[in-house]
Amino acid sequence: MFSPEGFVEESIAALRNEVDDIAVIACSGGVDSTVAAVIANIAVGQLLHCVYVDTGFMRKNETEEIQEMLARLGLNLTVVYAEDRYFAALEGVVEPEHKRKVIGELFIRIFEEEKEKVGAKYLIQGTIAPDWIESGGGARDTIKSHHNVGGLPDDMTLIVVEPLRDLYKDEVREVGQFLKIESSQRQPFPGPGLAVRCLGDLTLERVEVTREACAIVEEEFEAAAQRGEMELPWQYFAALLPVKSVGVHGDVRAYGETVVVRAVASLDGMSARYSPIPHPVLTKISTRITNAVKGSVNRIVYDITNKPPGTIEWE
Ligand code: XMP
Repeated sequence: MFSPEGFVEESIAALRNEVDDIAVIACSGGVDSTVAAVIANIAVGQLLHCVYVDTGFMRKNETEEIQEMLARLGLNLTVVYAEDRYFAALEGVVEPEHKRKVIGELFIRIFEEEKEKVGAKYLIQGTIAPDWIESGGGARDTIKSHHNVGGLPDDMTLIVVEPLRDLYKDEVREVGQFLKIESSQRQPFPGPGLAVRCLGDLTLERVEVTREACAIVEEEFEAAAQRGEMELPWQYFAALLPVKSVGVHGDVRAYGETVVVRAVASLDGMSARYSPIPHPVLTKISTRITNAVKGSVNRIVYDITNKPPGTIEWE
């Protein structure tokens, strides 16, 4: 039986043993990196510098909300605004694995710059078991290079420390609850953010459409759950597809893009079942998204695929 208390105690001892100099930690505000940061803060707080990178692929209002939450947890935080660098690096990149590698590599470069500023020797990461299992290596096939694993360049000079690498998502959440971290029950959000929910060209405009669509899905699901019309799924979001179809706007022909709504039940993200969603909720989402992004999206579809054979995200 997994004991969050025992895990925290052991991790603190291990970190104190391993980390003897300045460390930077990548804080995304998600449960994994926040749990890793809080444990590291207890273990070696005086050596710890938390860095949050705004890649430009964050959800609506996410940067401000996360900044406030991490400040409440007492973490020493630096925010790096890197949207321009990410968009420049990803220009013309559409292949999912290529995209993940570029994002992961830039992420590490930014950390190396922060390391130079504070003189860090270690990089602490909130990598969990499914991240490295699905990223392949040894006899395992690469399903997706997870952002915190696949993009590590060979010439990286920081020593990587991963206190959560043997945990599954449900265990990380238990640890988060034990540590009274507000984001413990937040739905997962991938490291590369909206970049892997915006299929095709990563332009500012298309990412903004993805952001708005994701926000609408979150709002409508959460409101419906509050009204008792449905249970909140384990994960729920929208992705923008690189598929155009013919529609009508007013009485004029429109040729617009497609948004897919995805919601799944899962325990640890390793397998998942698509969630049956009440039709009135889907109808509201469809109307709101097409109204919010008038003209550019004219078709909303619902994904009814389990994992396997699909994955949860589309890239
Ligand atoms: P997939 O799409 O592979 O995702 O079924 C399983 C779970 O992991 C999340 N995910 C990621 N998390 N870095 C992360 O920290 C990543 O690169 C990444 N890619 C996917 C995904 O949202 C789902 O919850």
